[in-house]
Amino acid sequence: MLLEPVVVRTGVDPRFRRDVLDGFAMRPQRAIPARWFYDRRGSELFEEITQLPEYYPTRTETALLARHCGEIGKIVGPGRAVVEFGSGSSTKTPILLGCVEPAAYVPIDISGDFLRESAAALADAFPKLPVLPLEADFTNPLDMVDEVSRLPKLGFFPGSTIGNMVARTATNLLRAMHETLGVGSMLLIGMDRVKDAETLIRAYDDEAGVTAAFNLNLLHRINRELDGDIPSDAFRHVARWNAWEARIEMHLEAARDIAFTIDGERFAMRAGETIHTENSHKYGPNAARLLLRAGAWTPIREWLDDGENFALILAEARPAGTAP
Ligand code: AVJ
Repeated sequence: MLLEPVVVRTGVDPRFRRDVLDGFAMRPQRAIPARWFYDRRGSELFEEITQLPEYYPTRTETALLARHCGEIGKIVGPGRAVVEFGSGSSTKTPILLGCVEPAAYVPIDISGDFLRESAAALADAFPKLPVLPLEADFTNPLDMVDEVSRLPKLGFFPGSTIGNMVARTATNLLRAMHETLGVGSMLLIGMDRVKDAETLIRAYDDEAGVTAAFNLNLLHRINRELDGDIPSDAFRHVARWNAWEARIEMHLEAARDIAFTIDGERFAMRAGETIHTENSHKYGPNAARLLLRAGAWTPIREWLDDGENFALILAEARPAGTAP
């Protein structure tokens, strides 16, 4: 008896397939979670975005960290395990580690490849520091290895990544971080501020078209990994300021009526219809602190750049019920 050869399709995350097929079927608004931007090419394009003249957040946050690092080190004190949520960034993490006299560094990321690369680079730069990478999904509470769980902790969540989540998801994540790090720990978090719509839109729709390429790369990834035939040239990158939700939204808009298949399933879109691909929430001072409190963190100090474009906030995990 001759059996059909078993075809093993490697490298395709079943959650990607589910999110894309569900997302294209979603009504009234099609939507795909922003986390799927970051394949190899998407991560490269994001790196390029951080260098763009219009994209102020990365350089503003890095400068804030460098400028106030000494003060942060004084408040936080020595001997903490620095727990970074997301792959360690090549520029920000060493600045922080250089100021807080850490006892250990624990980068957590769901993508093992990026995790190993950034952990190795950090271990090279800080040869005496124990670096203990953890490949895990940090949206749920995590157990730390014994040698880390005994130490006081400082969580680090830069980049305004919290802004990619709606308030419900963001508070769930902050509570999970509180649980992972424990009472008495601290959290240093970057949050992008509300500002004029023009500056915001320019940051997400740059002159050189890098953000457009970043957004459209999602369609290339779908075609490649999920056997799709989406005509990517029929889509246009759109960045909108949603004032009611206080967020930048990125969409992919169909320029004409189109039909295509993804993994054997048929879809059709009308001209002008969009796929919602990202939210980037912006916070005013009160909203930022309220979000942290709702997520079980007590803000204790905040640093802003001169233009008040970006906030670096230090918060503390206090036991429940300590306030009257
Ligand atoms: C992942 C939060 C840093 O929302 O500003 C940049 C991603 N998207 N340009 C952001 C992003 C388009 C970015 N962060």
